[in-house]
Amino acid sequence: MLQVRDFCRDDFDEVQHVWALTGMGGAQRGDTFAIIEQSVAMGGKLLVVEIEGKVIATSWMTFDGRRIHLHHFGVHPDYQRQGIGLALVKQSLLFAKQKGYQIKLEVHKDNQKAINLYTKLGFTYLGDYDVYIIRRIKDLE
Ligand SMILES: CC(C)(COP(=O)(O)OP(=O)(O)OC[C@H]1O[C@@H](n2cnc3c(N)ncnc32)[C@H](O)[C@@H]1OP(=O)(O)O)[C@@H](O)C(=O)NCCC(=O)NCCS
Repeated sequence: MLQVRDFCRDDFDEVQHVWALTGMGGAQRGDTFAIIEQSVAMGGKLLVVEIEGKVIATSWMTFDGRRIHLHHFGVHPDYQRQGIGLALVKQSLLFAKQKGYQIKLEVHKDNQKAINLYTKLGFTYLGDYDVYIIRRIKDLE
C-alpha cells in the first residue's frame, strides 16, 4: 500500500539511500538531517512515499519567504514508471497551492523524463538561465 506522508526522523537513512540511487546524494550538498529539520521549521516540507514500510520516493520543498523551491525529487529506480512520480508532484503542488506561493525548480536540460513529468503538471520553462553556486562558503576570502 502506497502512502505519501511527511518525512520523520527515522526516515533519514532510507531517504539518503533513495537520493544516492537517483543521483541526488553527496556530502558536498550538505543535506543533513539538521538541514532538513531547519527547512521544515522555515515552512518547507519533505514529502516521502512509503510502500510496505520502505521509503521509495522523496520531494523536498524549501521555502525562502518568497517562493517554494522543489528539489530532491526522485523515485527509487525499482519503482519508476508506475505513476509514483506523477502522484508525488501532484501532492507537492497541493502543498504549494495551499501555502499560496509560486513553485520553482531546476532540472538538467538533458533530463527529459523529469522535464516530461514537470511540464505535464503545469511547470513552464523560464528561459535560458544558468545556475551558479558557491559550495565552499567557508573558504571565501
Ligand atoms: C523523473 C522521475 C522522478 C519520474 O518518476 P516516475 O515515478 O518514473 O514517473 P511516472 O511513472 O509517474 O511518470 C510520469 C510521467 O513522467 C514522464 N516520464 C517518466 N519516466 C519517463 C521516461 N523513462 N521517459 C520519458 N518520460 C518519462 C512521462 O511524462 C510520464 O508520463 P506517461 O507515463 O504518461 O508517459 C524518475 O525517473 C526519477 O526519480 N529520476 C531520477 C531522479 C531525477 O532525475 N529527478 C528529477 C530531478 S530534477
